[in-house]
Amino acid sequence: MVRLDLATVLLAVTAVARAVTPSTPSIVPGAYIVEYEEDQDSNAFVSNLGGKASLRKDLRFKLFKGASIQFKDTKNADRMIAKVATMPKIKGVYPVRRYPVPHHVVHSTGSDAVEAVLAKRQEEGNDTFTTHLMTQVNKFRDSGVTGKGVKIGIIDTGTDYLHPALGGCFGEGCLVSYGTDLVGDDFNGGNTPTPDADPLDNCNGHGTHVAGIIAAQADNPYGIIGAAQDVTLGSYRVFGCTGDVGNDILIAAYNMAYEDGSDIITASIGGASGWSEDPWAAVVSRIVENGVPCVVSAGNDGAAGIFYASTAANGKKVTAIASVDNTATPALLSNASFAINGTSDFFGYTAGEPGVWDDVRLPLWSVGFDTSDPANGCEPYPESTPDLSGYIVLVRRGTCAFVDKAAYAAEKGAKYVIFYNNVDGTVSVAASVEGITGVAMVTPQQGETWVRALEAGSEVVVHITDPLKAGSFLSYSENALTGGFLSDFTSWGPTYELEVKPQFSAPGGLILSTYPRALGSYGVLSGTSMACPMAAAVYALLINSRGTKDPKTLENLLSATARPNVFRLQGRSLPVLAPVAQQGAGLLQAWDAAHATTLLSVSSLSFNDTDNFSPVQNFSISNTGEKAVTYSLSNIGAATAYTFSDETSISPSAFPNELTADFASLAFSPNNFTIPAGQRKIITVTATAPKGVNVKRLPVYSGYIAINGSDSSALSLPYLGVAGSMHSAVVLDPQGARVSASRDQSNSPVPANSTFVLPPRGFSNDPSYGNRTELPKLVVMLAMGSAVLRADVVPLSNCTAAARVAGTVFGTKTIGQPEGLPALWNPRGRFEYRWDGKLDDGTYAPAGRYRFAVKALRIFGDRDVATEYDAAETVDFRIQYLPDPLGKVRRQDEGC
Ligand SMILES: *[C@@H]1O[C@H](CO)[C@@H](O)[C@H](O)[C@H]1NC(C)=O
Ligand SMILES: *[C@@H]1O[C@H](CO)[C@@H](O)[C@H](O)[C@H]1NC(C)=O
Ligand SMILES: *[C@@H]1O[C@H](CO)[C@@H](O)[C@H](O)[C@H]1NC(C)=O
Ligand SMILES: *[C@@H]1O[C@H](CO)[C@@H](O)[C@H](O)[C@H]1NC(C)=O
Ligand SMILES: *[C@@H]1O[C@H](CO)[C@@H](O)[C@H](O)[C@H]1NC(C)=O
Ligand SMILES: *[C@@H]1O[C@H](CO)[C@@H](O)[C@H](O)[C@H]1NC(C)=O
Ligand SMILES: *[C@@H]1O[C@H](CO)[C@@H](O)[C@H](O)[C@H]1NC(C)=O
Ligand SMILES: *[C@@H]1O[C@H](CO)[C@@H](O)[C@H](O)[C@H]1NC(C)=O
Ligand SMILES: *[C@@H]1O[C@H](CO)[C@@H](O)[C@H](O)[C@H]1NC(C)=O
Repeated sequence: MVRLDLATVLLAVTAVARAVTPSTPSIVPGAYIVEYEEDQDSNAFVSNLGGKASLRKDLRFKLFKGASIQFKDTKNADRMIAKVATMPKIKGVYPVRRYPVPHHVVHSTGSDAVEAVLAKRQEEGNDTFTTHLMTQVNKFRDSGVTGKGVKIGIIDTGTDYLHPALGGCFGEGCLVSYGTDLVGDDFNGGNTPTPDADPLDNCNGHGTHVAGIIAAQADNPYGIIGAAQDVTLGSYRVFGCTGDVGNDILIAAYNMAYEDGSDIITASIGGASGWSEDPWAAVVSRIVENGVPCVVSAGNDGAAGIFYASTAANGKKVTAIASVDNTATPALLSNASFAINGTSDFFGYTAGEPGVWDDVRLPLWSVGFDTSDPANGCEPYPESTPDLSGYIVLVRRGTCAFVDKAAYAAEKGAKYVIFYNNVDGTVSVAASVEGITGVAMVTPQQGETWVRALEAGSEVVVHITDPLKAGSFLSYSENALTGGFLSDFTSWGPTYELEVKPQFSAPGGLILSTYPRALGSYGVLSGTSMACPMAAAVYALLINSRGTKDPKTLENLLSATARPNVFRLQGRSLPVLAPVAQQGAGLLQAWDAAHATTLLSVSSLSFNDTDNFSPVQNFSISNTGEKAVTYSLSNIGAATAYTFSDETSISPSAFPNELTADFASLAFSPNNFTIPAGQRKIITVTATAPKGVNVKRLPVYSGYIAINGSDSSALSLPYLGVAGSMHSAVVLDPQGARVSASRDQSNSPVPANSTFVLPPRGFSNDPSYGNRTELPKLVVMLAMGSAVLRADVVPLSNCTAAARVAGTVFGTKTIGQPEGLPALWNPRGRFEYRWDGKLDDGTYAPAGRYRFAVKALRIFGDRDVATEYDAAETVDFRIQYLPDPLGKVRRQDEGC
């Protein structure tokens, strides 16, 4: 086993501490998506449910026929949904899940109300926008290929189409020529959407940034160039100003974008999953099958480590886009001035939250003079510290949270804090701390200049005015640390069933683009959300150049020509390619894809795991060129990533997973051959998993089949497999099933036989009971994803009728599962469920003594077989209900 020198790399890890809070999509209570076998009137369908449900959204489209419905009086309606599922004309019933706007980083935003002194204007001359140079997109623009005639549907927060760089209008003839608002400003994912025809984004920003990456027009002061400036955009707004979106609305938006004739659909949205089967992903797969390429951001949960694919990117045939960092660090900084011993100069900063800097002119005070201090200001300041109310405190970013640093400054009276960055550029900092009225960030270079001056005994007086009124400018520096390498935040695949994810990467870290006028007009953001629209634009350029929009052909071309990169961590590269699970095929090389004459029949290969090992696979190579080409094949291994840090651990380790240079060996038949012009050849690949690896730690191996042609073509085909058994992986942490109190944020277990007093039946959402009641919270830790998670309510007293008639499922005595369970297609991580006593058949469990028996299906397990589940039980607990306000006595509770 060849262990790579990661330990030393890890020692170099300093800042960029990112909280890992992978979020599990939540469910909208009582809301379901119903899919019909064949078309039917949704209003009639709903009224057939006896007035118990209302229509959330009619979902009758060419490729999906159904509706989402909302039960008001859930009690009987839930029995109905179970019945609905078994009705002959119903294909499926799925809970409505909520997904958040992806967690992206806003580095800085600025305004166009200034002359762009430092910007490189690029209206004339060749495209030198760094993200275009990285992906060869510049070559298209230089040769006049700009996406003309291609329609890209964007599903996002809407678009500020009134922005001068985004066309200035909406509708026919405009850059944003079609689309709609499915939700309205006030929608938060939990309330009722109020759709209208206007997809304007004036309060969020995410979708406006995405649109500019694809198609920003030359009319802007910062030289921002859309990658495909002449496409037409469709804007489907699915988020309000804040909050989430339900998958029923996403399904509707995708189908509308499809039916409106989009040639490509892009969505920078997702939630933790790891399974291709959830309904949103399945709908996107269907649209791809019908000829429209769909690109979806891979997710920003890189910190969670391997096996953290996000939906809908993890859908079959859906193209998941990973992120690499920009080779330049753009920063939009607000203008301010400072004076050293009275000699003044100007500087740029990024205001944070709180951001009240109304004409502040104060001297700086620095927490020490060590500009490489990894944990500057992370402890209480010494006794000798002066009263800081007359100063602005200067502190370096790193180790502890911004709020901690601000709090230590506030303890000594400070009202203002300026952080200087420990990596290139700036970020918009949030540090709401009592006493602090303004925080801001400056670049590491600016911080160092000031610290040196203070160390030399100079007085540094900083003058900052309201950032909304201050001018702003763009600063560019070379990103020597991470430029061109995979972004740390990019989520890792593959899916639990070993579909290769992500497909390829595009620049998504440190991206300058348009932002709503109301929020500053321009912004620098990071996320796979920013990589995904770049990939969509590249598809448009390929449709122009190759005259086909077949998703498979284009994905195969982009994958074969993408450029894999080595693994890099904190500015240090390893001498081995990054795993396919992190980078897919590598960074898009659009021009090579547009001009390749050698075509492969697949975009990747999965050899599956040892139980399902399929070592022999075929793919074809087509020579569409005009001359015979001789090809030779070889295998280039990428780093093998261990899922588990040791043999006893059951949860995948967080980023970075331990990497080794153990490679699979591949044999090719034939491996050196000539294909005449216009012919194709089938290649058989036979894989042998890497030897000497520890299979108990689930090593995920991967690499690239290099295909080199005598015409100097150089293609690579990514592959992946697991040298171990996915089924053998424990999915349910044995310590992980417990009962906690619903209001206990720390989820600590309650003692056995605790009593929970629940609100009266049907009143669990009534806040007036909040004070007097506490629900049992089932907390389950899933070590790995599980396709089925059950929780049976086991009766422990015989005093109720319900308990006496309890059934048995998989050997467990049960009166049913809490409403909404079983949960399907679960990501790993913490699963929480607050139980108000209601069961999956719509009745309430009688007062009494119970425990939860939890069962989670193993990966590749047969859901009808008890032994395929990991099982755990909680402690016993009692439930009681507050008296029914209508005075009803529940006979079923008698005697308990
Ligand atoms: C601009 O690009 C074209 C096409 O790639 C190239 O021929 C030309 O030399 C470039 N011009 C400059 C100034 O780089
Ligand atoms: C500024 O003044 C202080 C105190 O007079 C002196 O020590 C320091 O060297 C001066 N700095 C510069 C840059 O002149
Ligand atoms: C920034 O402020 C300085 C004066 O403090 C001024 O000379 C300069 O023009 C300003 N730049 C911008 C972009 O507003
Ligand atoms: C791996 O094998 C399992 C079991 O046959 C199958 O369900 C799954 O789809 C396979 N994965 C891939 C990527 O082919
Ligand atoms: C692969 O191709 C060979 C030769 O054409 C053929 O004999 C074999 O059946 C194919 N195998 C698979 C798995 O498709
Ligand atoms: C391909 O095969 C030919 C003849 O079998 C041999 O001469 C040549 O060196 C081989 N090329 C490579 C790259 O293996
Ligand atoms: C819980 O209560 C039951 C019945 O009252 C009793 O048999 C059991 O020992 C108790 N469990 C614990 C851990 O106290
Ligand atoms: C909760 O109870 C406390 C003390 O009994 C009371 O002061 C408070 O107003 C109650 N809050 C609500 C929301 O009922
Ligand atoms: C409850 O009743 C069932 C059937 O009547 C009996 O088998 C079981 O032992 C009883 N359990 C308890 C805890 O009394």
